[in-house]
Amino acid sequence: MEFINVALPKGRLGEKVYDIFEKAGFECPSIKENSRKLTFENSEKGIRYFWVKPSDVAIYVERGAADIGVAGKDILLEYEPDVYELLDLHMGVCRMAVAAPENFRDDKSKTLKVATKFSNIASNYYAGLCRDIDIIHLNGSIELAPILGLSDVIVDIVETGKTLLENGLVPFETIVPISARLISNKASYSFKANKINEIKNAMEEYVRNKND
Ligand code: PRP
Repeated sequence: MEFINVALPKGRLGEKVYDIFEKAGFECPSIKENSRKLTFENSEKGIRYFWVKPSDVAIYVERGAADIGVAGKDILLEYEPDVYELLDLHMGVCRMAVAAPENFRDDKSKTLKVATKFSNIASNYYAGLCRDIDIIHLNGSIELAPILGLSDVIVDIVETGKTLLENGLVPFETIVPISARLISNKASYSFKANKINEIKNAMEEYVRNKND
């Protein structure tokens, strides 16, 4: 039996993502029993799941350790992994935005200091605007940067807007909408095309019915 290895993003989104696989007919009941184990398989269905850090899913898939996986569009735009994007799951919906203190006014005569975890997305966005920037790459708590004068603006994910609001920041521009995507390793998509397409089509149908 040909197995499909699936990298799932560990965490709340991952559990919802697994539910879609389950509803699409690729269940693996043991995944709900054990909280520390990282790999689970259903040999009857020929499917094996493993939990990985959400930002690592694309690495597993790009290198073929997983045939398919689910990654946020933010990660795909930031790291530009060499994978196929098969399906928008319309979950984990948020946006990549520029935010700053309410009184911020962009002085175009100066280099704009941009704090972000998404340096590539920020660089591409400002290159498109021909705006000179200085990227300050941070790994978290990005909202602090403008408050402490480390940066003028931030580029970060906004979901409800609560984090910005609670830190006195305002979203100024939306760079791109974000949601979770089903991705595939390129070689797997040719060698295991039938099975991957079977999974993709079943998920697509479920997602479509859910959003109708
Ligand atoms: C993101 C982002 C913001 C927050 C926005 O962090 O960095 O801090 O979500 O959500 P909100 O608009 O609903 O308040 P995430 O929770 O993904 O974790 P992270 O700090 O590890 O990036």
